[in-house]
This record gives sequence, C-alpha cells and structure tokens, in this order.
Amino acid sequence: MPVVAVVNRKGGSGKSTFAAHVAAWCARQKLAVMLGDVDRQQSSRAWLRRRDPSLPGIAPWVVDQKNVLRVPTGITHVVLDTPGGLHGFELARIVMFADAIVIPVCPSLFDRESAAACVAELKTLPRVAKGQCRVAAVAMRVDGRTSGGEVLRPGPARTGWR
Ligand SMILES: Nc1ncnc2c1ncn2[C@@H]1O[C@H](COP(=O)(O)OP(=O)(O)OP(=O)(O)O)[C@@H](O)[C@H]1O
Ligand SMILES: [Mg+2]
Repeated sequence: MPVVAVVNRKGGSGKSTFAAHVAAWCARQKLAVMLGDVDRQQSSRAWLRRRDPSLPGIAPWVVDQKNVLRVPTGITHVVLDTPGGLHGFELARIVMFADAIVIPVCPSLFDRESAAACVAELKTLPRVAKGQCRVAAVAMRVDGRTSGGEVLRPGPARTGWR
C-alpha cells in the first residue's frame, strides 16, 4: 500500500494544501484513498469534513476500540499530512512506514533553507539512504512574474540537493 507523507519543518509551506490535492487526485482516479492528519491542527480532517459528499470519497483515519488510529479496511493509498517543525524521532517514525516523502517548498530563502535542512536530516535515515523511502520536493506558490521558479530549480549549486 503506497504511503506518501507530506513533510516540511517550515510552517505554512503548503503541506495540508498539497496533501489534500494529492488525496483528491487519487480519489478522482477511483483509488481507495485515506488522508490522515499527523498534525494536531487537524487541518486535513477539518477539510475532509467540509468536503462535498457527492465527490469521490476520501477516508479519514479510523479510531479503534483501543483509541489507536488505523487505516480503514479496503484502503489502497495513504496520504499523510504532517505538522511544521517535524524532526528527530517524530520524523523518523513517519519515514518508517512511508514509501515517499514530498516536501512542498516556496521560493523564499527561508523556505529553501528549511527544505534543505529537512532533506539533509532525511538523508541520514536508513530507509531514505537505502532508497526504500523516496524523497521529492514540489515547488509551491511560484509566481511566473518572479524568479521563484528559477531559484527552485534543482541543482547542487543552489540547494545542495537534487
Ligand atoms: N500553491 C499555493 N498557492 C497559493 N496559496 C497556497 C498554496 N499552497 C498553500 N497556500 C496557502 O498558504 C497557506 C498555508 O498553506 P497550508 O495550510 O497548506 O500550509 P501548511 O504547511 O500545512 O501549514 P502548517 O505548517 O501550519 O500546517 C494557506 O492559506 C493556503 O491556502
Ligand atoms: Mg498544515
């Protein structure tokens, strides 16, 4: 079961927005998808509650009798929204069961530095180092009238990571 986690230490980088879009895309492909919040803010759960019920379904976590969050039966694809500031043990725990980490990155210097720090930490984790959990970045809020797209283009000269 593919598990994609959307991660960035930087608050407001677009994690919840991106996670919601990926889950909605999966639902439109007729995949049995769950969108789970690891974030205390519960933005994704709040969005799911407001979503038009006539649209293709996206499941939330289920809470079992022991009060543990579980992936509902029949789900084939999982998208996880995570909180800003995720690092250390909490990040490693997500990487333990994610197949892919997607990092939404805005063009500002602070956003890029935060994403680079996140990638550097991810690279130290065995599942990432072995290629069992893949890491990707996606450019957010790129305004075509600015150099935002250019500064986010991958390359070691700019960011130190590809
Ligand atoms: N691609 C985008 N284009 C325009 N606005 C965006 C885009 N992505 C996110 N936003 C806006 O930026 C704000 C922050 O987005 P979002 O809540 O998804 O970030 P977040 O990383 O989940 O934040 P937090 O760290 O607080 O959980 C929201 O107002 C959202 O609508
Ligand atoms: Mg969020």
